[in-house]
Amino acid sequence: MSQFKRTLLGRLTSLLLSGLLVGQAITVTAGQQDDRYEPGRITYAHFNKDGQLLIPRNYREWIFIGAPVTPKDMNDGNPAFPEFHNVYIDPVSWAHWKQTGKFRDGTIIVKELVSVGAEEAASGNGYFQGEYLGIAATVKDSKRFADRPNNWAYFGYDSYESKSTAPQPDESCNTCHKENAAEDNVFVQYYPVLRAGKPEKK
Ligand code: HEC
Repeated sequence: MSQFKRTLLGRLTSLLLSGLLVGQAITVTAGQQDDRYEPGRITYAHFNKDGQLLIPRNYREWIFIGAPVTPKDMNDGNPAFPEFHNVYIDPVSWAHWKQTGKFRDGTIIVKELVSVGAEEAASGNGYFQGEYLGIAATVKDSKRFADRPNNWAYFGYDSYESKSTAPQPDESCNTCHKENAAEDNVFVQYYPVLRAGKPEKK
């Protein structure tokens, strides 16, 4: 066999193998993510028959959009949501946001709570993330939450041990979001990634 043919054969084999591997990786991820397909859309927000949101498990593989921090020492020891908030949006809603600058029906945004750990590091004094504390989430759905302001419902916060969680009353969460958030209930003003991803107005 000529050197050329051998190289070509080698390339083809590795291409085939990597194709198989990618195929497998996608199947595995899809299995883990449990992202079910509903007619007409892929959704990352799943509910049980009582209308409770199943606590999302794989959100650390979604799009990270920002990390507000409300430290205890600046909030009389008791911030509403302690302390770092690592915020993620599901990938299909991110793609939709980049295209349209809107939150699609079915959007889910998770905020993961992390304690302040160290307050000094080799880089200087500051707030450095400590331990995971739990999560909160919000879902926009015009059918399921037809009566909620801007069709968003709010969940949390919960420990990782809980399997599902019921929507909160509007007064507890939605009202503040609707009044103070920059866009459609979401605090886009604190998420540089969302601002950067938003398409220019034509
Ligand atoms: C008094 C105002 C206020 C109330 C009440 C409130 N939030 Fe928020 N929420 C905020 C602000 C401000 C942010 C962004 C900054 C931050 O995380 O500190 C935010 C961010 C979020 C986010 C990330 C997505 C987004 O919209 O920016 C989720 C999820 C969330 N809150 C859930 C809840 C839940 C669940 C409740 C009710 C239990 C709740 N919030 C009550 C002010 C509020």
